[in-house]
Amino acid sequence: MTNETIGTVLITEEQIREKAEEIGRQISEDYAGQEIILVGILRGAVPWMADVMKRITLDMTIDFMAVSSYGAATKSSGVVKINKDLETDIDGKHVIIVEDIVDSGVTLNYLEGYLKSRGAASVKLCSLLDKPEGRRVDIKADYVGFTVDDRFIVGYGLDYDQKFRNLPYITWLESE
Ligand code: IMP
Ligand code: MG
Repeated sequence: MTNETIGTVLITEEQIREKAEEIGRQISEDYAGQEIILVGILRGAVPWMADVMKRITLDMTIDFMAVSSYGAATKSSGVVKINKDLETDIDGKHVIIVEDIVDSGVTLNYLEGYLKSRGAASVKLCSLLDKPEGRRVDIKADYVGFTVDDRFIVGYGLDYDQKFRNLPYITWLESE
C-alpha cells in the first residue's frame, strides 16, 4: 500500500468515552471487593486503557506487555512473539487484558493461556473493538466497546504501519 487515506468518522471520541464509563462501572461491579490488575497490550490499547481505568473504582494496578503478530502488513501472521513481558508478579491475581481490537483472536488466545500459566487467579478480556468476521480461533472478549465490520481500522490507538494512533476517533483505511 503506497497511498493511504482514511475514511470518515466511524466512532467518535464521545462515544468511546461513554462506553469506557459503562465498562469501567461494570468491571467495578463484577470485581467488587477484589483487587485487579489491568494488563494493557502495547501500543494500541493505551488510549482506551486510560479511559477505562479512570472509571474503575476498585483497588487496582496496571502493567503492560508488548507482543507482535502483525508487521507492517494488514494480515496476521498467526505467530505471537513477546517483545515486552510483565514486570508484576500476577500469581493469584485477577487479571484483565486490555486490547485495542480482537480480529483473528490469535493474540488474545495466546495471552490468556500465557497469563494463566503465570498463575493468574482469573483472566478476562476487555477490548475497545471486536471484528468477529476475522476470527480464526474461538475466543470471546468479556468486555467489548464496539463491534466493527471486516475493514482495516485505524485511530484511537490503532495503527497502520505505526501511523494514525493519535486520531481521537475510529475510522478505517482506504487504499488506492
Ligand atoms: P488478532 O491476533 O488477529 O486478533 O489481532 C490482534 C492485533 O492485530 C491487534 O492488537 C491489532 O494490533 C492488530 N489488528 C487487527 N485488526 C486490526 C485493524 O483493523 N486495524 C489495526 N490493527 C489491527
Ligand atoms: Mg497493531
